[in-house]
Amino acid sequence: MSQPMTAEQIARYVVAEAVWAPSVHNTQPWRFVLDEAEISLYADHERRLKVADPDGRELMISCGAALFNVRLALRSLGYVPETRVLPDPDQPALVARVGWPERAGIDEFERRLFSQVRTRRTHRGAFDPEPLPSALLAALRSGVARDKAALRILADDGRRAALAAAVQTAEHELERDGERLRELARWTPAPGSACRDGVPASSYPARAEHANPDFPGRDFARGHGWGTPPLSSATSIRAAGVAGLLTTAADRPVDWVNTGQALQRVLLTASACGAAVALHSQPLELPWLREFIRTQLSDGAYPHLVVRIGMVTQVALSVRRDPGDVLFAPGGDRVGAVRV
Ligand SMILES: Cc1cc2nc3c(=O)[nH]c(=O)nc-3n(C[C@H](O)[C@H](O)[C@H](O)COP(=O)(O)O)c2cc1C
Repeated sequence: MSQPMTAEQIARYVVAEAVWAPSVHNTQPWRFVLDEAEISLYADHERRLKVADPDGRELMISCGAALFNVRLALRSLGYVPETRVLPDPDQPALVARVGWPERAGIDEFERRLFSQVRTRRTHRGAFDPEPLPSALLAALRSGVARDKAALRILADDGRRAALAAAVQTAEHELERDGERLRELARWTPAPGSACRDGVPASSYPARAEHANPDFPGRDFARGHGWGTPPLSSATSIRAAGVAGLLTTAADRPVDWVNTGQALQRVLLTASACGAAVALHSQPLELPWLREFIRTQLSDGAYPHLVVRIGMVTQVALSVRRDPGDVLFAPGGDRVGAVRV
């Protein structure tokens, strides 16, 4: 019989999967600490977007997505994660602690989600006109509810157009705000860069792909002409996809962490069904537009992300930091590092 894994081996395995979570501008704002048989997840506030995300909401959503990966990776080893989500006023960086006291075999659905952790990519642009697999939206809605969030699909044309208009207005404002542009520049390395964080030019199209209604993407290239070339020059009809909002009933740090967990569940479930998801947080970074969306398009629930879901062939590639750079022992040493 093979030897059971040590806590250190488990932590290394789990963190190597956790880092593939999505994060705003691929800031990867997380640190993991292994203490006995428990992993603590901390937010790395040095990596917070000081201008775009002053309250750390997007930072906590990003950490919540990493937490979902931690839980799923433990399931892939046959452990049952015991999770305490804990943003705590006395320890604002602490996001959650996860132990693995019991064992139970992974089920087929969990296995399918886990198989997408490294290969799923954020989509940027339009979708093919093909419909989504029939049961997908219902599965996404019920999955998100498990993480105490909601996925609101904006099915009628008027509300969808209003949401697209909010994204257009936000993008227009952000592109004219020097401070925000300087912050974006810090996270958008030039093609060929060796950076292991930020949004690489291999992950967005060089030419904006428009759809009707139009949900403009962020201008990661900032006029440099960076990005991936179009897959073909054919001018087929391109779709905006099914548009919706991820929301929570309250707006506390714990709700942001839960949104991140729900987000990652949505992304992996869609990916496992051959669908892709585009994310737009531009209008939610402007308080007055976020309030407009909350009151007019989400029945008073707090909106966190605009999502578009559709079918498409993806070519995007992303990057991540070495898991060894984000996993520490309680004293601050890297796990496995030997003091001399
Ligand atoms: C809170 C949050 C906000 C995001 N906002 C946007 C966005 O406005 N536009 C976008 O293209 N991607 C957005 N993303 C996706 C990230 O840019 C993406 O996760 C990161 O670059 C890593 O790439 P990957 O998801 O393909 O692995 C967001 C992700 C998170 C977690």
